[in-house]
Amino acid sequence: MKILGIESSCDETAAAVVEDGRKVLSNVIATSLEEHKLYGGVVPEIASRRHAESISGVVKEALEQANCTMADIDAVAVTYAPGLIGALLVGVNFAKGLALATDTPLVPVHHIRGHIASNYISSDVEPPFLCLIVSGGHSHIVAVKSYTDFEIIGKTRDDAAGEALDKAGRTMGLEYPGGVSIDKISSQGDENAFKFPKPKVSGSPYDFSFSGLKTAVINTIHNAQQKGEPIDNADLAASFQKSVVDCLITNLEKAALEKNFNKIVIAGGVSANSKLRAQAQGLCKKYNWSLYLPELKYCGDNAAMIASQGYYEFVNGEMADESLNAYATMPIDKNYKTI
Ligand code: KG4
Ligand code: ZN
Repeated sequence: MKILGIESSCDETAAAVVEDGRKVLSNVIATSLEEHKLYGGVVPEIASRRHAESISGVVKEALEQANCTMADIDAVAVTYAPGLIGALLVGVNFAKGLALATDTPLVPVHHIRGHIASNYISSDVEPPFLCLIVSGGHSHIVAVKSYTDFEIIGKTRDDAAGEALDKAGRTMGLEYPGGVSIDKISSQGDENAFKFPKPKVSGSPYDFSFSGLKTAVINTIHNAQQKGEPIDNADLAASFQKSVVDCLITNLEKAALEKNFNKIVIAGGVSANSKLRAQAQGLCKKYNWSLYLPELKYCGDNAAMIASQGYYEFVNGEMADESLNAYATMPIDKNYKTI
C-alpha cells in the first residue's frame, strides 16, 4: 500500500511516498529556515506564505521521485495537528483538495505520532515500547502500546527541551536554531564548567520543567555582561546541554524501570543531539535494553514519517472527509475520530 504524506506544521514544506509504512520511495523537503534565521526564530506569516508557494511543486516532485501518479496512491496522509495554525492549514487544505479531486482517502496524522514513526522508517522496531519525544514544541515520555494507542507517562510543565535550547542559544548570540548550534559548539566546551540547578517538579515523577534552567543560563549571561566579564560560550553551551540531557535521561530511566519497558525509542528534532544519543546509548547498555534512534535525516520534520504513521492510522480506519480542520494543539493520545 502506498501512502502520500504531506507535512507543513512549522517551516518545512514536505511530501513523501512510503510503501506499507516502512519503505521510503521518496522524501522531498523545502524549508524556509534561512529566512527565519534573520529573525532568530520561525515567523509564522513567512512560513505560511512559503508553504503556499512550495506545496504543489514539492508534492509533484515526491510523486515523480517515487515513480508514481495519484492513481498509484492508496491514501493521502496529512499533518493536521499540532503546529502553527496558518502553516498547518496550507497542508491540510492542499491534501483535502487533492484527495477530493482524485477520489483518494484522506488520513489525518498527529505530528508527534509522526515523529515516533520516524523510527519505523529507520529500523524494524514495533510497538509496544517506551518513547522519549523531544522537539521544538514537545517533551514527552509516552508508552506506545500499539501503532495507534498512546499513553502519556510524563510531559513538560512549561518549555519543551528544544525550545529551551533555542532560547538559550539565542541569548548566547548563536545562529537559529539554537539547539543545533549548541550541539555543535559543545564539543569544544567543558560540560562541568557551569553548574545549573536540577529542576524540581511536584506531582508526576516523570514530568519535566525546562523554564527554570533556561532562566538560569540567561541570568548567567546577563550577569557576566553587566560585570563586563567574558563568558566562554562553548563551556556554557556544553554545561547547559548536559543539564537538559540529564533531566531527559533521568526521567526516561525512572519511567522505563517503573513501567517495565526494555525497548526504548527516541524521536523528535532534539533526537539528533549527539549528547542525548550518547547518553541514551549508555543508559540502555547499563540495563541491556534495546535502543532505537531515528536516522539523522528523519529526526527533523519530514513527510516520510507522516506517510509512515498515516499507513498505520489508515489500516486502523482513521479517515477524514472534507470537513477536516487543523489544530494548533492536540494531545497525542486523542484519536481524530473522538475529537
Ligand atoms: O521536531 P522538530 O524539527 O520540530 C518540531 O516539531 O518542533 O524539532 C525542532 C527542534 C528545535 O528546537 C531544534 O533546535 C532542535 O529540534 N534540534 C536540536 C538538534 N537538531 C535539532 N537540538 C539539539 N541538538 C541537535 N542536534
Ligand atoms: Zn516536528
